[in-house]
Amino acid sequence: MSALSLADQAKRNAAFAAVDRHVTPEVRVLGVGTGSTVVFAVERLAELKQQGRTHPDLVCVPTSFQSTQLIADAGLRTADLNDLLPLDPTGGCPASIDVTIDGADEVDSELNVIKGGGAAHLREKVVAAASKKLVIIGDHRKDATTLGEKWDQGVPVEVTPIAWRSIKSQIERLTPLSRAPAAAAGPAAAAAAFEFASPVAVLRQAVRKAGPVVTDNGNFVLDVRVGKIFDPAAVEQAIKMIPGVIEVGIFCRMASEAWFGNDDGSIAWRI
Ligand code: 5RP
Repeated sequence: MSALSLADQAKRNAAFAAVDRHVTPEVRVLGVGTGSTVVFAVERLAELKQQGRTHPDLVCVPTSFQSTQLIADAGLRTADLNDLLPLDPTGGCPASIDVTIDGADEVDSELNVIKGGGAAHLREKVVAAASKKLVIIGDHRKDATTLGEKWDQGVPVEVTPIAWRSIKSQIERLTPLSRAPAAAAGPAAAAAAFEFASPVAVLRQAVRKAGPVVTDNGNFVLDVRVGKIFDPAAVEQAIKMIPGVIEVGIFCRMASEAWFGNDDGSIAWRI
């Protein structure tokens, strides 16, 4: 293997440590995230399988075409979420995945996460919600106190292509005090949910001006810059309420732990 950059080595260390800790022989159904850090997780997974250290009937639930391909290339079996529920002896408990390992764009001190830098956050959120445990892996650049502190590319929002302009303008009319109806009442309504006076929503473009990025689900992505996010749940809900928004790349309290690789080879682990 060619020499890795410090950042890639840090990602690899975190990915290997998290896989070693969580993909025990008892794990029968594993969710596999998307992104460059997950590539290393699947590399380790393939090694463990070869060494006979995984469940003999291990199946992996992918979160994107990329992860479907990674899983297949590693000689592992894929499964659709829809096919899993009958496997659940309790009769269809939604948490039918034992553990999901996924990357992140940023993680705050309460394990709220921004995801969707790879435009896969819709499936990633669905898979995370069906998992008993969501384990986040990344390098230390992803480790923040407040969302928006380090990640300056905005919150990825998957939207229907037929209305992206109107969704963009509705998002840009939100204010730091905007609340989804369910959260509107009470003293919390007076606190700013985000830093900027108004959001800026940019349609994500493919490289070399090849047009808008199209997700695996045939939708577009708006990257919504709001500065620091003081109330991730309020921002997630306010954006999600806009008709035509399919999924918001803020994962509130879904992750149970995060592993961050440092440039010196050490790993920080947060629960
Ligand atoms: C894809 C994601 C990725 O997990 C996130 O962008 C992190 O990617 P990477 O590991 O390449 O930094 O959310 O939608």
